[in-house]
Amino acid sequence: MSDERSIDLSAPPVIETARLRLRPFVEDDAPRLTALLEAFEVVEFTAGYPHPFGLDDARRQLERQRHLAEAGQAVHWAIEPIETPPGSLNGLCGGVLAKLDAPCRNAELGYWLGRNAWGRGFATEAGRAVIDWCFGAWNANRVEAHHVARNPSSGRVLEKLGMQQEGHLRQRQRRWERFEDVILYAVLRGEWQAR
Ligand SMILES: CC(C)(COP(=O)(O)OP(=O)(O)OC[C@H]1O[C@@H](n2cnc3c(N)ncnc32)[C@H](O)[C@@H]1OP(=O)(O)O)[C@@H](O)C(=O)NCCC(=O)NCCS
Repeated sequence: MSDERSIDLSAPPVIETARLRLRPFVEDDAPRLTALLEAFEVVEFTAGYPHPFGLDDARRQLERQRHLAEAGQAVHWAIEPIETPPGSLNGLCGGVLAKLDAPCRNAELGYWLGRNAWGRGFATEAGRAVIDWCFGAWNANRVEAHHVARNPSSGRVLEKLGMQQEGHLRQRQRRWERFEDVILYAVLRGEWQAR
């Protein structure tokens, strides 16, 4: 289709915001990723990370991310504070991603942060940069996101990003043997440009 742009998702660009650097994950991130994702409160409301989360899980996750990028289905960025020197092993503090549905020009935003990085507006700042990338470089028509109803801070992030609540999906997600209600949000291209 003429609105599709060819982008090599296996080498996503480094994006800098006021306080953050979003950069591609590298294999050496595995130990730090393990340290961040081994906390249950960090993975509790995410869709797929196991608990307990070990080094092999981190390596598998990085491998999976590479496959999804090569297939054009998702792009993942590591989040690090901008004052951290590029490449320093302990800078990584979270992750942000966009799952991509190319025929529909629809992207799905996701994010997580290590416990020490919560409450500083980082998810909102990283999310805003990735939505910009989706509407800009990737030429999205719509960006959506969802959160588990029991995780209101994530809903607040989506509100602060200017997304509109579109639905309350009853028992849409099953996690830790529990069915969870999910809240769906989205923003359209014209709304993002007009904000
Ligand atoms: C959810 C998460 C990404 C939020 O990241 P963050 O950087 O702390 O988010 P921000 O600081 O940008 O914004 C959080 C907002 O939620 C609000 N908040 C915090 N706890 C809340 C609660 N229990 N109820 C309602 N709002 C709450 C904060 O006050 C803040 O809003 P404000 O700026 O208006 O004060 C982070 O807690 C996290 O990574 N959690 C684990 C993984 C996860 O849940 N990922 C999302 C999966 S959908």
